[in-house]
Amino acid sequence: MTNEEQYIEGLFERDDMLERIREATVAADMPDIAVAQGYGRLLTMLVSMNNVTNALEIGALGGYSGVCIARGLKQGGRLTSLELLPQFAEVAKRNVTEAGFGEQIQYMIGDAKNSLEQLIERGERYQFFFIDADKEGYPIYLEYAIKLAEPGAIIVADNILLRGRTINDNKQGPAVQAVRSFNHTIVNDPRLQSTILPGYDGLAIARVL
Ligand code: DHB
Ligand code: MG
Repeated sequence: MTNEEQYIEGLFERDDMLERIREATVAADMPDIAVAQGYGRLLTMLVSMNNVTNALEIGALGGYSGVCIARGLKQGGRLTSLELLPQFAEVAKRNVTEAGFGEQIQYMIGDAKNSLEQLIERGERYQFFFIDADKEGYPIYLEYAIKLAEPGAIIVADNILLRGRTINDNKQGPAVQAVRSFNHTIVNDPRLQSTILPGYDGLAIARVL
């Protein structure tokens, strides 16, 4: 975190529920890469400002962002969370259940592309998306999100700076190229109105027109 980010985090009281999830995630030998606290608060705000009843996240990790999203849902709202690894989904399910959101969040395990195809076949529609999974998949996840979006839906994606690799010309690996392509689409696609926040590891926010 930068000094500025640290200063801002210091203004907020400790969020016991989310800190417990972060600790339980690390204790389960999972990486400590949940979304930044400031962006977690933004997820909750965006979900509540848009009266979201149906949300989708791609990449559950330990359930941290799931709780941030679920906190903003309207009464009776639901979050579908796609997670590649069954062991991560188990930890996430346990964490969100302990946090009191077990009923609102439903997990789909396996390759997100298969789950997204199933959701399209079922005719599901969402008002909010959070993309925070394998970075190589970002361009295709964005296309799926647009297909599954209700008009006016919000699409948020984490880590669009890849700890600086995105802006380092010497980095040309598949994840970096995929995120650059994702960013180009987010900014230029006529189906979207978008912005990108440069704080923490970068966050893209788009509205489907
Ligand atoms: C990293 C951080 C993330 O939030 C993520 O989704 C993937 C990787 C990282 O810092 O390595
Ligand atoms: Mg992330």
